[in-house]
Amino acid sequence: MEFKSGNTQLLSKLASSDQHGENSPYFDGWKAYDNDPFHPTQNPNGVIQMGLAENQLSFDLIEEWIKKNPRASICTLEGVNAFKDISIFQDYHGLPEFRNAVAKFMEKVRGGRVTFVPDRIVMAGGATGANELLMFCLADPGDAFLVPSPYYPAFDRDLSWRTGVKLLPVACKSSNNFKITVQALEEAYKNAKKANIKVKGLIMANPSNPLGTTMDKDTLRSLVTFINEKEIHLVCDEIYAATIFRAPNFVSISEIIEEMQCNRDLIHIVYSLSKDMGLPGFRVGIVYSYNDTVVNCGRKMSSFGLVSSQTQHLLAAMLADEEFVEMFLAESSRRLGNRHKIFTRGLEEVGIKCYLSLRPEKTWMDLRPLLSEPTFEGEMALWRVIINDVKLNVSPGLSFHCVEPGWFRVCFANMDDETTEIALQRIRTFVGERKEIDTQEKNKRYKKIC
Ligand SMILES: Cc1ncc(COP(=O)(O)O)c(C=O)c1O
Repeated sequence: MEFKSGNTQLLSKLASSDQHGENSPYFDGWKAYDNDPFHPTQNPNGVIQMGLAENQLSFDLIEEWIKKNPRASICTLEGVNAFKDISIFQDYHGLPEFRNAVAKFMEKVRGGRVTFVPDRIVMAGGATGANELLMFCLADPGDAFLVPSPYYPAFDRDLSWRTGVKLLPVACKSSNNFKITVQALEEAYKNAKKANIKVKGLIMANPSNPLGTTMDKDTLRSLVTFINEKEIHLVCDEIYAATIFRAPNFVSISEIIEEMQCNRDLIHIVYSLSKDMGLPGFRVGIVYSYNDTVVNCGRKMSSFGLVSSQTQHLLAAMLADEEFVEMFLAESSRRLGNRHKIFTRGLEEVGIKCYLSLRPEKTWMDLRPLLSEPTFEGEMALWRVIINDVKLNVSPGLSFHCVEPGWFRVCFANMDDETTEIALQRIRTFVGERKEIDTQEKNKRYKKIC
């Protein structure tokens, strides 16, 4: 029989469905970058990747630590004695020293205001795997989770594709500083019930991606009260917990449940070292659940996405070095803060306003004044110009399920200083040209009237 690669009948319904969520401008932007990546000398007119919320500003600090600690790597002369012990089969609880070090790191990142029990740490392949694992444990296919929007575009893939869980966006608006309200949650919950959809929980990223903001204590308390009353789960993706560089500080859900009565079985935290340590390639994801049954079930399931024992071994030593971790977090935060200042000032100089972002590796730009019309068609038309002509991969609000056209997320900590300056220069030229066109059109209209 002839094998046709396009014959989707050869695949399962689930695999060939479009639930992968990749048919979004967020991923199209990545493809545009992959097809024509900027390089300062080999492709200076290529697309600059500004769609990746990654912290690449502090690799030198980690490289320095690795050089000073050769025993932590099993592929060095000094560390090879541990090779056999580390490379044999590990049970899916993970190395005890790794879980201890991660628990301590999670405490440090939350200002030492809470404690985490190492036995509750469940490993997964990045926050991606951790989020999916929780959906798998908490909901059946067809059940739903409420998600405040705008939200991280890959949630559509990560939370839904293989689990069959539905996502119900709860719209937050700029008029309210994109804050989630209990009123909006109540309405979304009621509408789901009317449509015969079982809501199993609420999932949100705090600090937020794309907004970069943190939730205040009152909001967090109101969310805990809401999920308690409805007896549904609360999943807090705290992947961006560290390196908040402006007051107010980040407050973790783990702090809130210390100070109020609630059913802790409903509370689950997702964490990862992808952002705060800048190590997305290591695929270290964590589920921290206060529910024993979820911990037990999640641990069995984590065998699908275990962190390699070599990575665990290295990170156990690195994260246990408290002096290094303290220095790294402070310095990384300082560098990110500087980059944020340079970039947002550059945008302000050409009249682009940014939403108050507390996370310094990205910002939420208000490009509503540049839209040809205040619609999502207008937003996509502007995005196509930015990606095809200006050659910057920024992500349009539509891909974050934002309900207001004209907002764009732009990331700037995944590049060096020179590339940042080139990106700013391209934005200056683009906005200058737009203003020129606007003035010419206004003059033409004026002449017609006269
Ligand atoms: C809110 C949020 N959750 C999860 C992820 C995925 O993280 P990881 O690389 O650890 O899988 C991201 C990545 O950008 C994110 O922004």
